[in-house]
Amino acid sequence: MNPLLGKLQPYPFERLRALTQEIRPNPAFKPISLGIGEPKHATPELVLDAIRHSLGGLAGYPATAGEPALRQACADWLARRYSVKLNATSQVLSVNGTREALFALAQTVIDPTRAGATVVCPNPFYQIYEGAALLAGATPFFVNSDPQRNFAVDWSAVPHEVWVRTQLVYVCSPGNPTGAVMPLSEWKLLFELSERHGFVIASDECYSEIYFRDEPPLGSLQAANALGRSSYKNLIALTSLSKRSNVPGMRSGFVAGDAALIKQFLLYRTYHGSAMSGTFQQASIAAWNDEAHVVANRDKYRRKFAQVTPLLAEVLDVKLPDAGFYLWAGVPGHINEGNDIAFAQGLLAQYNVTVLPGSLLARDAHGINPGSGRIRLALVAEVDECLEAAQRIVSFVRSVVPSR
Ligand SMILES: Cc1ncc(COP(=O)(O)O)c(C=O)c1O
Repeated sequence: MNPLLGKLQPYPFERLRALTQEIRPNPAFKPISLGIGEPKHATPELVLDAIRHSLGGLAGYPATAGEPALRQACADWLARRYSVKLNATSQVLSVNGTREALFALAQTVIDPTRAGATVVCPNPFYQIYEGAALLAGATPFFVNSDPQRNFAVDWSAVPHEVWVRTQLVYVCSPGNPTGAVMPLSEWKLLFELSERHGFVIASDECYSEIYFRDEPPLGSLQAANALGRSSYKNLIALTSLSKRSNVPGMRSGFVAGDAALIKQFLLYRTYHGSAMSGTFQQASIAAWNDEAHVVANRDKYRRKFAQVTPLLAEVLDVKLPDAGFYLWAGVPGHINEGNDIAFAQGLLAQYNVTVLPGSLLARDAHGINPGSGRIRLALVAEVDECLEAAQRIVSFVRSVVPSR
């Protein structure tokens, strides 16, 4: 057996299941889960239609790189969304969702024979980053997000000796779970560090189309372009249709950026055997070429967040995020001294609402677990169900009498 498998941590939902298995939720309430961040809005008809019309695509082996027409649709979308011009053949590659690409990229990039191979990850973070680093033979170094600065990841806190051995940095903007969008100044810092130390930046942008400010989130390619780095050296952006177009089951996304990295990534993927089905490639072209369904989807999230957030803000430390579909809420200190796990357990027991304790999404680093005292609420269900859950959370918090 590969001994590195033993280093993998249980997934947050597995840990939550273990922490709640003894609980018998109050049967007076029907179960509501704000736990899993899986899109639940309806898949647009135009995507379903494209699938129906492309079933012939199942009859042949698909190309690993993706059909030229799909890669061109992705490059055209990048041009419309970020005003960047990428070569569809050498700088764009289709992938089966960002999850597998985030993982596979580490296997392509990391040289485990170099002493102290390190992957820098935000904390809290999407757990694939850590598993990808470990299975590539590297060690993750966690950088905490700072609640005083809109949960920005404090890159400047990484010591020089860590940067020297860093081979890969994961950025998540908009962030899961914080919703924070990384500003240009921080991109500038990271690009300069990448230039100095030669590490690759993997920019996970899968929440980029669900946002609450007027201005759409800045993308990494857009930031590089604005800073005169249009060769995108050592930069790979990862984008997905899962959240943008409500097709998590289609497993469709793409990566774009540094042509030299893309070439090696394609070589790796050819052996790994991760080509997207021809049927879903056609459906993906339809999805990337249409913006109307994305606007409607975003509006639906905006209306939902506008209703739910103020309600929860009455009892939790929470505000509208920059983007994404999560609320990253601080739990009140009067309930079990602000312990996020106890809060999730109590809420499930009394009101049958599942939330994800923040400490399960982060690791202890630099003396703290930056997720502790917070819960992640995925507002993916329809608005009525989210409102019902929010009302129960309000009742739960108000039901607990502060101990003196
Ligand atoms: C931060 C982040 N990155 C990547 C993914 C993977 O998304 P997909 O593989 O569907 O593109 C998720 C899924 O929830 C996520 O939260």
